Amino acid sequence: MTNRDTAGSDETRLPAYDRVDVSVLVVGAGAAGARTAIELAERGVDDVLVLGKRNHGDAHTTWARGGINGALGIRDPEDSWAIHAADTLNEGHFLNDPAKVETVTEQMPERLRELDEWGMDFSRTEDGEIDQRYFGAQSFRRTAFAGDHTGESMLDTLVARAQELSVPYRENVMVTKLLSDGEQLHGAVGFDMDTGDFLLFNAGTVVLAAGGYAAIYNRHTSRDDENNGDGPALAYDAGAELMDMEFVQFHPTGMAVDETDPEWEPWSGRLVTEAIRGEGGRLYNAEGERFMERYSPDQMELDARDVVARAIAKEVAEGRGTENGGVYLDISHRDEAFIRERLPRMYERFQELGVDMAVEPVEVAPTAHYGMGGVAVDEYGETSVDGLFAIGETMAGVHGANRLGGNSLAETVAFGVVAGERIAGRVDGPGSLPDSVVGGVAEPHFADLAALAGRDGAYDVMDVFTDIQDLLWDHAGILRDGESLQAGLDALDDLRWKAADLDVGPVTSPSFEFAVDVGFMLTAAEAVLRGALARTESRGAHYRTDHAETDPDWQRNIYFERADLGGMTGHTEPVSTPSQAVQDALDEGHELDYHQLE
Ligand code: FUM
Repeated sequence: MTNRDTAGSDETRLPAYDRVDVSVLVVGAGAAGARTAIELAERGVDDVLVLGKRNHGDAHTTWARGGINGALGIRDPEDSWAIHAADTLNEGHFLNDPAKVETVTEQMPERLRELDEWGMDFSRTEDGEIDQRYFGAQSFRRTAFAGDHTGESMLDTLVARAQELSVPYRENVMVTKLLSDGEQLHGAVGFDMDTGDFLLFNAGTVVLAAGGYAAIYNRHTSRDDENNGDGPALAYDAGAELMDMEFVQFHPTGMAVDETDPEWEPWSGRLVTEAIRGEGGRLYNAEGERFMERYSPDQMELDARDVVARAIAKEVAEGRGTENGGVYLDISHRDEAFIRERLPRMYERFQELGVDMAVEPVEVAPTAHYGMGGVAVDEYGETSVDGLFAIGETMAGVHGANRLGGNSLAETVAFGVVAGERIAGRVDGPGSLPDSVVGGVAEPHFADLAALAGRDGAYDVMDVFTDIQDLLWDHAGILRDGESLQAGLDALDDLRWKAADLDVGPVTSPSFEFAVDVGFMLTAAEAVLRGALARTESRGAHYRTDHAETDPDWQRNIYFERADLGGMTGHTEPVSTPSQAVQDALDEGHELDYHQLE
């Protein structure tokens, strides 16, 4: 259906758009979106549409490398879902929602078996079982993997399964706004990135599986046009709350490169998987010292990501870093055949760049990797706006103050199932899209998009885009303090002015997409800065040099929502307690013993 007959080409008239009616709209086609759609299809809900910003089968999930956690107990039979939950809470510094953690960890053995049945090419033990490796801060080997291309293999498997079930999919669509009256969701609007057509989706249920916000930092592991905060910003704009946005994970090992070298520059900050350390990789400073002995003599390179990232940052800041501002990661004590089998993508990438991991180290430095915060949701992944769900990296609650490596892929499939089951139990055809929402929300937004396209503004889109990223890195990075956070908020206001006067190409141009992203980034950036300023303590990935201790009174989540009169308004709430089974696992005090690896 289209309004093209009634809309004219006259600039004063409403831009033309196509209308699509569907019961459930899934925004995002990575693992979380795909698993939700599969669950819906298996439960007989076929009036679903999955939207992806890229070609079918491509999403940020493909960049997830080292593995996916689940207490199968294959290598270490004493492992259990409750110990997995205890490790997750410990790593999250008890800011996680224990119920959500249990939802993930209890399900994961089944989710892994299911992926296996659907054909995922997991790496195997000698007995043909799903193999499990060590990952940071985990008491046992519970990270299942497919070499070092786990995300890619997993998404291929989910896409194939969704295709078997004939799940409808539309690629190259960017959603720019959700249709909500603040209480009830009615659908979404966006545009076709190939044709430039504007699109209106009437859907009573929308699942945001649109990723996180780590790419609002200038050094990050994502591609530039993903994880810009779309998911959190869309939900916030629709009336949902954001939670714990100040917690951004800096992965210790992103590629540290000579940024003046055009061959290396594009790789700056890209992920060097934790699996290298899980398979025995060691970190050395430029003086050849295995410096983790000083920071974490028991857990060494496999201590929590925030601990290892801060250790590397300190080594570099104190002059013991490499010329490219990193340290060395070395796995050359392992055989070439072992490295090629367990870490094939890493081996090939560095080989192409002229570095042989089997004989020499690679250079690494911390990089923004994951937003632990996101959209506040209930136990089913539903926000405070009726009919709006947020799952995967878009949602908050599972990871607390710091995420365990391998838990992000786990969360995608676990919450995909939970949300899909919940929606299937109540969905009843497309919603009835009120005229007031079409005329009062959707059509004015299309007019704004039309005005943005081809705008001859004063500021280059990519300059403002990178200014935001630089601002976050400089003011809300690995180490923060109140003065710098406040200065960051002030500087963000200046960038807002620039963002209102961008020089933008037509709807199908990259500059149009990035101009829309700039809007999302501003929302996410403000929430990160405000949360980090409000949280006057250090906890997990949030380290305040002016409040270096963890404050038990701050075992609270910080929420932000849109104030009625505009602007962000915040409040805090205490965290709840875990179940007895998980409390028992916590009391047992399980911990990784690194030295048994050597
Ligand atoms: O290092 C890695 O392979 C990252 C995994 C993760 O963040 O879960």
